[in-house]
Amino acid sequence: MARVLFFLAASLLALAGHAAADRGLLGTCRPLTPAAVAAYNKAKGSFFDSACFEPAPIEKSCGGYTSGLCIYAKGTSCHYKAKPCKPTDAQVLALFAEWDAALETLNATKVADLYAPNAVLLPTLSNVVRDTREEIIDYMEHFLHNYPYGTINQYEIRHLAEGVVQNLGIYTFALSGDRKVQARFSYTYVRQANGKGTWP
Ligand SMILES: *[C@@H]1O[C@H](CO)[C@@H](O)[C@H](O)[C@H]1NC(C)=O
Repeated sequence: MARVLFFLAASLLALAGHAAADRGLLGTCRPLTPAAVAAYNKAKGSFFDSACFEPAPIEKSCGGYTSGLCIYAKGTSCHYKAKPCKPTDAQVLALFAEWDAALETLNATKVADLYAPNAVLLPTLSNVVRDTREEIIDYMEHFLHNYPYGTINQYEIRHLAEGVVQNLGIYTFALSGDRKVQARFSYTYVRQANGKGTWP
């Protein structure tokens, strides 16, 4: 009997310790949800996951903060600060998938929308360097006549600075008429502030 009581007491102590630790860290704050992080990424054009945030001290109101995430619940504002965070390989590869999906729409404007205003495009099927939006659209119009679909064969991802990442490697385009072309690629992605999806 004594042993059972001891066990119970130890469990209660463990529970109390757990609750105190939670209160110390977040007070009545709810943990960051995937939906809250997704909404943040949409607004900021960022690629953060919940591991990229750290809890900040609880304030009466954090609506005035310009960085990080504020969740208001039960009369308490909970502020989570964004910390420097690299995109994962999966997140970088998803940017290529987004570009590939834009090719599938066969809409050159839609593809060009993924390029930054000052982007330079070194085309796969042409040696004419395109460094304006008009030239990128012009190349894409020709390129899309081939119904291209790209598959990455080999890649190397390099993080150059906060919000700047490169994906370099070899890919193969499947083109209409059972044609294939293998080529080198080099994408430089720069996180945009406005979330409009313009990664060059
Ligand atoms: C092509 O995409 C652009 C930008 O999304 C859109 O405004 C335009 O209507 C599209 N054109 C066609 C023919 O679907």
